[in-house]
Amino acid sequence: MRLGILISGRGSNFEAIASTIARRRLDAEIAIVISNRSNAAGLEIARERGIPVRVIPSQGLDREAYDRLLVDELRTHEVELVCLAGFMRLLSAHFVRAFPDRVLNIHPSLLPAFPGLDAQRQALDHGVRITGCTVHFVDEFLDSGPILIQSAVPVLDTDTVETLSARILAQEHAIYPKAVQYLVEGRVTIEGRRVLIREDEPQ
Ligand code: GRF
Repeated sequence: MRLGILISGRGSNFEAIASTIARRRLDAEIAIVISNRSNAAGLEIARERGIPVRVIPSQGLDREAYDRLLVDELRTHEVELVCLAGFMRLLSAHFVRAFPDRVLNIHPSLLPAFPGLDAQRQALDHGVRITGCTVHFVDEFLDSGPILIQSAVPVLDTDTVETLSARILAQEHAIYPKAVQYLVEGRVTIEGRRVLIREDEPQ
């Protein structure tokens, strides 16, 4: 399956997907990494791995005009599944319709709790005992589409935003490649808000 990865920054989830592919635990190929920011650290990771990159800045464009550029670039690279990995933009209905049920995002909370920015800080401030991360399908609303995988992370009394974020991030790196592999294996169906994952075939 040909993946298009959209980033805005560090790119560690992108790197987790790339290294899972390199270890042959994920049967996919990263066709293109696109960033809306030219200084995204993830671009360097892609270049070092020989993965094609493209910077598409958004200044001066409305959401739909920008998303058309994204869709064109993804189509040029024959992308079948789009993975948002720290991509700090909301996508338009135009984009979502261009890849029906084929856009994933990772979010650092157990959605629907704590959508939006600073999810780890929101969890700490709220005082929850358990938070985590979520891989979900993307619709045109913020952090709202059907949920594919979640992983729970306990909040410790000693936690700061940094320590909690680091433990959540380790789980993000585990579940994102796994979610992509479920789709690669064709095991996923969406029924309303529920995502059903068929059992692995016994060997
Ligand atoms: C991650 O915490 C992800 O859940 C959120 O943005 C962050 C991106 O980190 N959507 P990275 O760029 O993948 O390192």
